Amino acid sequence: MENVSNEQKTLDVLILAAGLGTRMRSNLAKVLHRLDGRPLINHVCRTATALAPRKVYVVIGHQGEDVKTAVLEELDGDHAEFVWQQQQLGTGHAVNQAREFLENEDSTLLVLSGDVPMIRAETLAALVQQHRSHRGKGAACTILTVKLDDPTGYGRIVRDDHGLFDRIVEQKDATEDERKVKEINSGIYCFDACKLFTALSHVKNENAQGEYYLTDVPTLLRNEGEAIAIYHHSDSHEIEGINNRVQLADMERILNRRVVKRLMLDYGVTFIDPYNSYVSAEAQIGRDTVIFPNISIEGISQIGDGCTIRSGTRITNSKIGHGVEILDNCVIIDSEVGNQCTVGPMAHLRGKAKMEEKSKVGNFVELKKTVLGRGSKASHLTYLGDASIGEKTNIGAGTITCNYDGKNKHATTIGNNVKIGSDTMLVAPVKVGDGAVTGAGSVVTKDVEPNKLVVGAPARAIKDLSEETNSAKE
Ligand code: UD1
Ligand code: MG
Repeated sequence: MENVSNEQKTLDVLILAAGLGTRMRSNLAKVLHRLDGRPLINHVCRTATALAPRKVYVVIGHQGEDVKTAVLEELDGDHAEFVWQQQQLGTGHAVNQAREFLENEDSTLLVLSGDVPMIRAETLAALVQQHRSHRGKGAACTILTVKLDDPTGYGRIVRDDHGLFDRIVEQKDATEDERKVKEINSGIYCFDACKLFTALSHVKNENAQGEYYLTDVPTLLRNEGEAIAIYHHSDSHEIEGINNRVQLADMERILNRRVVKRLMLDYGVTFIDPYNSYVSAEAQIGRDTVIFPNISIEGISQIGDGCTIRSGTRITNSKIGHGVEILDNCVIIDSEVGNQCTVGPMAHLRGKAKMEEKSKVGNFVELKKTVLGRGSKASHLTYLGDASIGEKTNIGAGTITCNYDGKNKHATTIGNNVKIGSDTMLVAPVKVGDGAVTGAGSVVTKDVEPNKLVVGAPARAIKDLSEETNSAKE
């Protein structure tokens, strides 16, 4: 074991995510609060994965099962190991729960906080690199620090007369002078795993919070003659912790500003009001697309070149082609819009709806799990659900696919070059052939042959309900 050089050691990651997050004043565990549409813990897990560690240990406790579910959206089960901390007795106690897995591992352990979501993989890689190469043989512990104008709330880095690491002191335990220190502990560290667990056995809870602090470990190691290094980083946003909702909102704004700026500078997207547009970091938007104020583009959405998206629209996990015009107040979820389509105003696409090239969906039209063929139109007040519509077909105002019989959903199939008259009810399952026409107000209960014109409503009396009611009374 002794022969393994620091450089060759495997990398494991441990993420602290068991805490309550009291300062959030929430019924939801802090690490499950969302930033850029994803739980805080997912951000940290994704960054950890980028370093290709052998294993990611996640310490869970408060709402642990939910945290586990969130983590498994990001990490595959083979690389994730969950460690329970039933009682939250401090960050040192939290790490100690992973003792059985790690105390004999000759690995480099990178410790991350579930509530520090903006840290970049490049920064962590540099931290690990410095830890392993410190003075040629590596350090026992390397602490990631930054300087903050307002260090309130963070643990401060106290250095000795030679500028070397002396100790970390928590805000609540700090003296007046110590509180003036601007260099803070990010809560992110690299440890030699064996040495960490040896030192952890000696951590006591004699402090203002009565907790077992992980922050006591570096000093314990230093007292044993071990090398403690500091990796000082310049971007303070990266290490900001989320402890309350103001910090969460500030972080969301910073992230969104970055995304919008990148889209403008690198991708040639116009934002009429960049301060009032929400775009997920995972979204892609093409050149010369114009985004009006007050829009949300969420999740993994893709928008092509030369589109116009007017105010009040939400696009979630959807794909929009080139040259598409989306008018005001549309909702597009899990759907696809082809090149040169027009959508809205007030349209709703969901459940894998698909508009093919040059098709149009207009005012108050809802598409659910429906394909609208090339060049086809549904311009006003229409519901199309579980339907497949061919090319160059016109769906008249007020048309409804009656897809639900109270128990099951049924399909409607409409061919090419069909004219569905205004206010047609298509009672599914039903098929309308190519070139067919339905008259205004038709109720179509049977399949329509190609090139046929059908009209009328088949509604007729089949039962006298009053007689039934009368006999029930007798
Ligand atoms: C901690 C550090 C502080 C540092 C700051 C950086 C300690 C004692 N203090 O303070 O020096 O400046 O992070 O953001 O470590 N957790 C558990 N179990 C527990 C307690 C906490 O899993 O028993 C988890 C929390 O869920 C959280 C992380 O550890 O993800 C940090 O805990 P938090 O209470 O936020 O510590 P801070 O007060 O921010
Ligand atoms: Mg914190």
